[in-house]
Amino acid sequence: MITNRVCEILGIEKPFVQAPMTWITSPELAAAVSNAGGLGILGFNAGFKVIYRDMYPTVASAKAAEAAGVDILVATGCDEGGGMPVESTGTIIKTALIADAVNIPVLAAGGIVNEAMAKASACVGAEGAYVGTRFVLSKECRAAQATKDDILNTGADDLIVLTEAGGYLKWRCTPHKVAKAAVEENLKGNLQPSTGSFYAGMLKGDMDTGINTVSSAANLIRSIDSCEEIVNEIACGYSN
Ligand SMILES: Cc1cc2nc3c(=O)[nH]c(=O)nc-3n(C[C@H](O)[C@H](O)[C@H](O)COP(=O)(O)O)c2cc1C
Repeated sequence: MITNRVCEILGIEKPFVQAPMTWITSPELAAAVSNAGGLGILGFNAGFKVIYRDMYPTVASAKAAEAAGVDILVATGCDEGGGMPVESTGTIIKTALIADAVNIPVLAAGGIVNEAMAKASACVGAEGAYVGTRFVLSKECRAAQATKDDILNTGADDLIVLTEAGGYLKWRCTPHKVAKAAVEENLKGNLQPSTGSFYAGMLKGDMDTGINTVSSAANLIRSIDSCEEIVNEIACGYSN
């Protein structure tokens, strides 16, 4: 094993990168180089597709992305988990507006946690989903069991929303110490409160020092399932 800065930055054992060469660089070639300790990279060739997700999507930004050659658009509404858009349009309306404005396929993001929500988004034009929160409650997710239990045990009306990053970002959280303190700070006019460590809350399950952020639809998740079960269930919402 060689240790130098290239290896450290890229997390590889041997300091070389297999350069992309369009169609010549197949997944098998890139995987073989990576398995040998280098970094394999796929080429830009006929199989290359662009999925574009604007953090604050608008009809104008969707049209601009379509004109720029994007293949699939993600319509994210404020129902999402993680850093929510400050703008308050929900996923269904955001999806309907964008799907109506462009000709390329649209994925709905925010609150697509089960087949019914998938169907609702399909009704307004989504051709698939972009899903986060439901996979936090998957068997394969490495979030702490305490984190998963916290989401399952928090009531739909107990979720709280705080503003951070100077008013640029919102978080919807399960109701614990750091999140509650941040809401108090918001009420005092502080739009830059500490949200503690995301790592502590979501990976370690320590709700005293971190936050646990979820979709507004998190309470519709009733069990911890395998990724295969989740994908199969949500996909039913988009069946023809
Ligand atoms: C725990 C969590 C962490 C997230 N972290 C990121 C991130 O690092 N970068 C990003 O672009 N989006 C992030 N998101 C947002 C997701 O990419 C996605 O837009 C969102 O999860 C979709 O909504 P849903 O959670 O209702 O399924 C995060 C979402 C969650 C729930």
